[in-house]
Amino acid sequence: MKNIVFATNNSHKLQEIRSIVGGRYNILSLSDIDCHDEIPETADTLEGNAILKARWVSEKYGYDCFADDTGLEVYILGNRPGVYSARYAGEPCDSEKNIDKLLSELDGLNDRRARFRTVIALISNNELKEFEGKIEGAIIKERRGNGGFGYDKVFVPEGYDRTFAEMESFEKNSISHRAKATQLLIDYLNKEL
Ligand code: IMP
Repeated sequence: MKNIVFATNNSHKLQEIRSIVGGRYNILSLSDIDCHDEIPETADTLEGNAILKARWVSEKYGYDCFADDTGLEVYILGNRPGVYSARYAGEPCDSEKNIDKLLSELDGLNDRRARFRTVIALISNNELKEFEGKIEGAIIKERRGNGGFGYDKVFVPEGYDRTFAEMESFEKNSISHRAKATQLLIDYLNKEL
């Protein structure tokens, strides 16, 4: 079985990808390879940060590796918060403050279209590949729902009338940006072996 590192310690993300990939790859976390580094995420694009993380692991630890980065892109805000989504309202990360800031920036604006975008960078056999997943939608004026995380309470995907936070997780996970990018990665990995 081939080892491949997912540059994360998020146990939910790891479990999800392990169950989809099945027995063909051994997906290792950062702690599995004893990497406790503060990996820099200093790029100003999602692509840049995903690549920084994947390169860090492949160059320093010698494993094939993939890494993801996600952001909420609001069109009328010039695609902000984008790569800065986690820390939009400053440090430490606080989802409720991030939502408050977003709603106040959009106050009085009619064009509330937005999308989530996930980029996954894979470094395998010294070759870089990128996979992208997107979901279009809109930011509503008030929070709705209790599920999910991040900006889910104010994001309604196109073609739906519920926010991500009002959906069951299986429903969100069947249409989400992350699910789409992950599926592309998995299709590629399954073809590669
Ligand atoms: P990460 O790259 O997966 O850590 O995501 C960065 C930030 O984007 C998170 O801290 C959240 O604020 C936001 N985000 C990412 N994915 C989602 C999602 O599925 N729903 C809501 N917010 C998200």
